[in-house]
Amino acid sequence: MGREIVVETCNLTKRYDSATVVDSLNLSIEEGEVFGLLGPNGAGKTTTILMLLGLTEPVAGTVRVCGLDPTRQPLEVKRQVGYMPEKVGFYESLTARENLDFIAELNAIGYVEARRRIDEVLEGVGIAQVADVKVGNFSRGMKQRLGIADVLVKKPRLAIFDEPTAGLDPEGINQILDLMAKLPGMGTTVVMSSHRLYEVQRVCSSIGILSKGKLVVQGSIDELGRQALAGGRYRIEIETRRPTPALVDTIKAIPDVKEVKTSGDLLMVITDSDLRAEISKVVVQSDFLLIQMKIQEFNLDDIYMKYFHEG
Ligand SMILES: Nc1ncnc2c1ncn2[C@@H]1O[C@H](COP(=O)(O)OP(=O)(O)OP(=O)(O)O)[C@@H](O)[C@H]1O
Ligand SMILES: [Mg+2]
Repeated sequence: MGREIVVETCNLTKRYDSATVVDSLNLSIEEGEVFGLLGPNGAGKTTTILMLLGLTEPVAGTVRVCGLDPTRQPLEVKRQVGYMPEKVGFYESLTARENLDFIAELNAIGYVEARRRIDEVLEGVGIAQVADVKVGNFSRGMKQRLGIADVLVKKPRLAIFDEPTAGLDPEGINQILDLMAKLPGMGTTVVMSSHRLYEVQRVCSSIGILSKGKLVVQGSIDELGRQALAGGRYRIEIETRRPTPALVDTIKAIPDVKEVKTSGDLLMVITDSDLRAEISKVVVQSDFLLIQMKIQEFNLDDIYMKYFHEG
């Protein structure tokens, strides 16, 4: 049995004046995923998110979110979906805790449960120690963390974060990413937009890359990585002294070696599995020095660059 689809769009399109900013988008996100929406500035990430929430109307196509139509049922969608916008806003004269109390009240969460959840999320996003400070005195990063807490207090079925780590320090980024990764285990599917590939690679199970309003690629990170390396999954770099074509041929003859490229004393071997032992053996047996060997798994940068070079 497949998992339930939480977000599904079919030919979703948005135009501003004559410019098509989201173009026939077909997106499908399963329950329990951490989905990363990637793409350069102006690609249409925020516009897509706003359509998922019913905050802006598509000119064509359909959207289903938690089985609902956000264009027709925005309030029902709001009950199940948490959203952190690009720019978070709070009551500056209230404390962090008071702001969250207010959200809990709006969502009809009982007093005792609200206390418990608020303490838990303040801790989770790392601002428990400033819970009783007025938000007007918060730094940008502290407000950003409160924005995430705000979404989590209502324990939504789907949480959408528009650039959740923008403005955070490196420690904050790690903390928030760890938290994102835990959310599916707590019953919340996550959609996050981001510019930072390594972040997305660290926490997302699948991604979609938008370019000029079009989804140029969608899939699990694992699958996309394989595709990006044209069948291979690992890059093994070997440094030796003056490699000869004969050595290259010997390495190419190892089963599962996809490709060998040379650049001076460096050999780059693309493989399907970790062949370091086999490769080092043939290098040494062919009487070449093995100065060093490095293994690299594919990187999301490879995927991103591949699609942007092609696009
Ligand atoms: N209200 C609006 N009126 C007119 N054009 C708009 C409006 N909102 C967005 N756009 C345009 O739509 C395009 C997509 O914008 P969007 O904000 O969705 O991009 P994004 O991928 O979120 O970019 P960023 O990474 O900078 O946040 C841009 O060209 C933008 O100028
Ligand atoms: Mg945006």
